[in-house]
Amino acid sequence: MKEIEILKLDYFGRGIGYMDGKVTFVLHALPNELVKVVLIKEKKKYQVGKVEEVIRANSSREESLCPYFDLFCGGCQLRHMNKVAQREFKINRVKDLLLQNAKIERSDFKFLEGVSNDYRNKVVFHINGKEFGFYQEETEKLISIDFCYLLDNQINQLLPLLKELLNRPHQLERVMIRVGVNTNGSMVSFYGEVNASDIKNVFFGKVSTALLNDDILWGEGVIMEEILGKLFLLSPQSFFQVNTKQVELLYQEALSSLEEKHIHTLLDLYSGTGTIGILASSKVDKVIGVEVVESAVLDARKNAKMNQVDNIEFFCGKVEDILFSKTFPQVDAVIIDPPRRGLDGKTKEMLLKLAPSLLIYISCDVATLSRDLIDFLSTYQLDKMTLVDMFPNTYHVESVCVLNRR
Ligand SMILES: C[S@@+](CC[C@H](N)C(=O)[O-])C[C@H]1O[C@@H](n2cnc3c(N)ncnc32)[C@H](O)[C@@H]1O
Repeated sequence: MKEIEILKLDYFGRGIGYMDGKVTFVLHALPNELVKVVLIKEKKKYQVGKVEEVIRANSSREESLCPYFDLFCGGCQLRHMNKVAQREFKINRVKDLLLQNAKIERSDFKFLEGVSNDYRNKVVFHINGKEFGFYQEETEKLISIDFCYLLDNQINQLLPLLKELLNRPHQLERVMIRVGVNTNGSMVSFYGEVNASDIKNVFFGKVSTALLNDDILWGEGVIMEEILGKLFLLSPQSFFQVNTKQVELLYQEALSSLEEKHIHTLLDLYSGTGTIGILASSKVDKVIGVEVVESAVLDARKNAKMNQVDNIEFFCGKVEDILFSKTFPQVDAVIIDPPRRGLDGKTKEMLLKLAPSLLIYISCDVATLSRDLIDFLSTYQLDKMTLVDMFPNTYHVESVCVLNRR
């Protein structure tokens, strides 16, 4: 065990320092701290360690209160940092990456704070015998848990039942639990081997629907969620933002820029279950959604019907292929909400050819966002950028960029 000085934080909120001249990433360490570190991973060019003792603490250090955080369960990374420091960390990281990757000098972000706990509407637990939980950071050892501060209370209340089920014979690998925060709907979806009757004995009457290896045991196999007054049906495989309260702010932020001009066609790319397109449909003449996951597209079509939206159409396929193979008339605005890897070259090329006057880029990873922005900046101006803290206590932050064609 050695003492090291922490100089700054990396992208993942880990402290960076040097031990015997080698760069060392330290879990749960803060800048300007002097900490005793135990190494947990050694590579040729760097090593990873965890704090064993804080000798000199940063004033923004806070006691985590969560027993699993101290075991490095991987659910949270910033629970040792107070709220103000978390905000500063997220803003500074965005500022630095924009400057470094896209040469954009900017710090005037609006930052929409979220509640620290009880915000996740979905969880996936790994299962090992009678235990369930998350994989430990850097080791993939299962950290068995009984509750998680990040989860919606409805999910935490189901965890004693999960324990009860795992006491019965089974060879389950994982379970996904998802709840409708505004509707009280709930879903458990198990993967692996177990008697369906055991799931029924434990969970029937306690959740609205249950599935085993994607076969419905009871209920509709979907749950509902209400966002900004519209209802959305969600299948187990369909993507849905995990923080119901904050996603309303995120969507409002993205949709507010549609009000400034008349829009004929809006493309909602990476449309998931159709949430953004359906919420935008009353502000534009026509919406076209594109999404690769078939169940999400089926959900999106049902969602449009359920909300009586008839100016929307969804295509199932990869954005890069659909943009290449189809022509869409009068596309005035495009909303892009890609997964963490961001946009590929073909998609960027097609978007530049399409040349909508308004481009709204929703991103969950500022590293790929800043890389992608470079391609748009010669023809588009970044007029507004909002950070929405969808994931307090973790290193993640969501952002909405509004780009207008010059
Ligand atoms: C960050 S989610 C956004 C979903 C939706 N906009 C929402 O707010 O719920 C990204 C979505 O992109 C989809 N996706 C991933 N790669 C894709 C691709 N190449 N083409 C189309 N959709 C893709 C995923 O299935 C997922 O639904």
